[in-house]
Amino acid sequence: MARATQAIINLHALRENYQLAQSSAANSRAYAVVKANAYGHGVLQVANALSALADGFAVACVEEAVELRQGGIFLPIMVLEGAMDEQECQIALDLDLELVVHQQQQIQWLKDKTGTLKVWIKVDSGMHRLGFSGQQVPAVASDLRAMECVSQIQLMSHFACADEPDNDFNDYQMQQMQILAPMNLPWSMSNSAAILSRPDAHRDLVRPGIMMFGASPLLGREAADLQLAHVMTLQSNVIALHQVMNGESVGYGQAFVAKQDTIIAVVAIGYGDGYPRAAQPGTPVVIAGQRCPLVGRVSMDMITVDVTHAQVKLGDAATLWGMGLSVDEVAKSCNTLSYELFCQLTQRVKFQYLGR
Ligand SMILES: Cc1ncc(COP(=O)(O)O)c(C=O)c1O
Repeated sequence: MARATQAIINLHALRENYQLAQSSAANSRAYAVVKANAYGHGVLQVANALSALADGFAVACVEEAVELRQGGIFLPIMVLEGAMDEQECQIALDLDLELVVHQQQQIQWLKDKTGTLKVWIKVDSGMHRLGFSGQQVPAVASDLRAMECVSQIQLMSHFACADEPDNDFNDYQMQQMQILAPMNLPWSMSNSAAILSRPDAHRDLVRPGIMMFGASPLLGREAADLQLAHVMTLQSNVIALHQVMNGESVGYGQAFVAKQDTIIAVVAIGYGDGYPRAAQPGTPVVIAGQRCPLVGRVSMDMITVDVTHAQVKLGDAATLWGMGLSVDEVAKSCNTLSYELFCQLTQRVKFQYLGR
């Protein structure tokens, strides 16, 4: 039998989560954020599954937008980091992409271009990563209006702390955007966290990402409590079972030493598949429906799990996250976020899509 390591993607759950984003911001359009290969879920499968529902998509770069267009996706596509050079501006015009503009050079590249292009001015409302300050925005808008190819101008910004709804910095960023209200331009501000926690930020367009993939965007809140359904289940199986005696060690660096006679299951997944090497001892793994703790170090191809108190046999399925085991819980145990766990799966993992 082939190595069983696989990610099962439930496209039905994905659509439900997208619809939850839509209904939570019922007066706004919603562009599904599918950058980074749809957060590791497979961009064309995800985009196709959403294409009858979504108002559009958002990706990080023109290259990702080209992949969508070549894959037959003809809905609006917003490019969050905008063009990286002049040639990408031409591609955006040719493929009818919506470009974010966050620095002067990107405006210069649009000079002398013809056609029709929708642009989003990125406002730096406080994150200080990309964008123009509020004071610069009116001049940027008038520069863009002077470009023959620019057919529509809208504003967008991004929250730094939306995962903490009580953080005052969210209010500060909203105030920075409100200062631009006299410009009377449509604007977009909300990621998943703001969609669920800040109705005042919904405005004209929302940009749901992680919530579509069934993970919680809010610190301290569980996805299930937010009515989000898990989309990815990462699975493998038990390829060896053995007993180690009290005092014996398991794996690299002898990182686990048995304090009593212990039954160890070896599961065929490791950091070569994207299962994080940073997973702490005790990180849960569900084997044959029972929660069991990871022990020892994560290897490239294998992990070791203490199954002393479970009924486990060779070949049993092991769930690393997804059905029956929240990805947020696993992420916490690896000192990271669901976003990173999803994105770092490697090509060795086979993907299976349900509910096309
Ligand atoms: C500009 C922008 N908008 C929206 C999103 C979606 O965020 P989330 O996945 O937290 O919903 C992201 C993701 O990083 C982003 O960079």
